[in-house]
Amino acid sequence: MSSLFDFDKPADAYAVMGNPITHSKSPQIHAAFAAQTGQRVVYSATQVDPGGFEQAVGNFFAHNGKGLNITVPFKREAWALAGELGPEAKLAGAVNTLLMDKDGVLVGRNTDGLGLVRDILHNHGGRIEGQKVLLIGAGGAARGVLQPLLAEAPAELLIVNRTPNRAYELATDFSAVCKEQSNEHMPNISSIKSAGFDDLANTKQSFDLIINATAASLQGEVPPLPDACCTANTWCYDMMYSAEPTPFMQWGEQRGAKVTLDGLGMLVEQAAESFLHWRGVRPKTAPVIQKIRAELLNTL
Ligand code: ATR
Repeated sequence: MSSLFDFDKPADAYAVMGNPITHSKSPQIHAAFAAQTGQRVVYSATQVDPGGFEQAVGNFFAHNGKGLNITVPFKREAWALAGELGPEAKLAGAVNTLLMDKDGVLVGRNTDGLGLVRDILHNHGGRIEGQKVLLIGAGGAARGVLQPLLAEAPAELLIVNRTPNRAYELATDFSAVCKEQSNEHMPNISSIKSAGFDDLANTKQSFDLIINATAASLQGEVPPLPDACCTANTWCYDMMYSAEPTPFMQWGEQRGAKVTLDGLGMLVEQAAESFLHWRGVRPKTAPVIQKIRAELLNTL
């Protein structure tokens, strides 16, 4: 392990690339991880122009950069650029972590789903195995977390989306892969189904865990979920985070949900997974989540 005081070598360089990037919390999170674990790294944020992603990645690694986080809107391009993909990234169709291996192969990983799962299981003591899970949304955010969610073997997983066809495609893709590759990365769960909001209202089903992977909270909106979905045993998880409870968290609270959570823990956990891939050391996330939460609350 290199030490903080090993001044002979320059610190290893990491960065996050996206557009826009000024509001990214990644530099702050990784600086906290580095200080905590004694890893000598520098981590910066780089705004990349549309069309300039491949060149920016090439330049970064040509100048001895060690690893990148990739955020909106380049996760799909990063996936296409990687020479090798982790099993979760293959299915996600998106990459948020890049590293160059010792043979010069650009390896792509997607740590978003693992971040979500770790936040639910480890930080909050929740369960996914054997649970009835409702995933709202069928865009990149939903696709990105599906494999790690399914790997926890929920009893059933229903994908609901405003445009039902997109939910159907996602469920079909993942059902097919589940059948083909029933292994530790993708156990054969009983069912992956899809629905539109109207179909869901007709079934009057309830769920143990509801995950909001839509962009609705960004617009101050809540997906039109039927009340029956939420009972006193339901956990409501919004992948978005904010200083105040998100509209989806408020929806859950008003319907007596057991637990309502936002995605700040997921953000820090996905960063910790990236850090682990790069440095081989797992940082403690709790103090970093606490610090960022306190800063968010100070903005109110
Ligand atoms: P991302 O990559 O962030 O997932 P995306 O591919 O644009 O972005 O997907 C956004 C998701 O949020 C979609 O599932 C979208 O529903 P549609 O497929 O019908 O567009 C969903 N979404 C966005 N705004 C919403 C809203 N106000 N209510 C419900 N769903 C919404």
